[in-house]
Amino acid sequence: MADLLGQLEALAKGAREAIGSAADEKALEDLRVRFLGKKGELSAVLRGMGALPAEERPRVGEVANRVRDEVEALLAGAKSRLDARKLEAELAGPPIDVTLPGRRVLPRGHRHPITRATEDISAIFARLGYEVASGPEIELDWFNFEALNIPPDHPARDMQDTFYVEASTLGDGAPDGSVLLRTHTSPVQIRAMQRLGVPPVRIICPGRVYRSDYDQTHSPMFHQVEGLCVGEGITFADLKGTLAAFARAYFGEGTRTRFRPSYFPFVEPGAEVDVSCSICGGTGRIPVRAQGQAGEPPQTRRCGTCKETGWLEVLGAGMVHPKVLENGGFDPKRYSGFAFGMGVERMAMLRYGIDDLRLYFENDLRFLEQF
Ligand code: DAH
Repeated sequence: MADLLGQLEALAKGAREAIGSAADEKALEDLRVRFLGKKGELSAVLRGMGALPAEERPRVGEVANRVRDEVEALLAGAKSRLDARKLEAELAGPPIDVTLPGRRVLPRGHRHPITRATEDISAIFARLGYEVASGPEIELDWFNFEALNIPPDHPARDMQDTFYVEASTLGDGAPDGSVLLRTHTSPVQIRAMQRLGVPPVRIICPGRVYRSDYDQTHSPMFHQVEGLCVGEGITFADLKGTLAAFARAYFGEGTRTRFRPSYFPFVEPGAEVDVSCSICGGTGRIPVRAQGQAGEPPQTRRCGTCKETGWLEVLGAGMVHPKVLENGGFDPKRYSGFAFGMGVERMAMLRYGIDDLRLYFENDLRFLEQF
């Protein structure tokens, strides 16, 4: 036993000297391995305990534990001494002036093309006297469908197309099926009429809408801009003039518009509006850089954006249905109005020649920095 206790004493003495003069962290780590490691000196002494009579082991074990504690404390003390010395050296070195201006000018960020298109569209209507309105994205069935004269059996109301919110989880007693993510910005028509109460109503509402759809031209979340104008003596001519002016402002001075009859439950009559293609100028063909002889007809290729038709379908519109005016609190015998709705992703795609809608939502800087 005396032998082992002597070894432990020698180990502690050796550790005090070696650790006291360790020059860096690497040296400390080597010493930790040498004294306390699995194949280190302490382990070697403990292995010797096996040969001792049982009644002597506790005494040796006790001393061994004390020696281990001491070595660990020595290592920790040495580590904080080294850290403090390193910090002092840094502080004594050349100072960093944190008040100097940065050397690299960081590039400015970019507005997302959807944000840009939304702002551009809003600015054009603001010049025409429209006010920007908004409404909730989690909407009641009544505003999204019912009040807009959309019948209960309309396909848009199907679970496949509309995201319903479990109303019971909202805790306000609404029955399931009555709360949904708005599928279009048209419910804001009703909300705006109710809020303003008297004509004229001239609002546009840009915002997010949701449909259960996902492919190259559909995303479950996308953006629309709704427009509504209600007053006395508003006619289809006002609708045509307004949208033609908008199309010229957004797509360029020479842009032409055409109206095709269409059906939307909340307007009567309803129309789909096309603009002359902004990519090929409405000709359906795009000139290819001349390589032929003088006198040869200019080379052209098919315009993929309008599929060679020269026209782009950009929005839905019409004269506000009498029932919708009534639901908004306006007497349809006295007042009339027009409404329109357009998809922002599509407006930006047509203006900038973007061919895949998913690019908008991938956050790839190479795409975003082009705008
Ligand atoms: N809400 C329609 C949709 O999402 C678009 C629309 C069509 C809006 C005609 C209108 C309108 O205001 O008059 O497809």
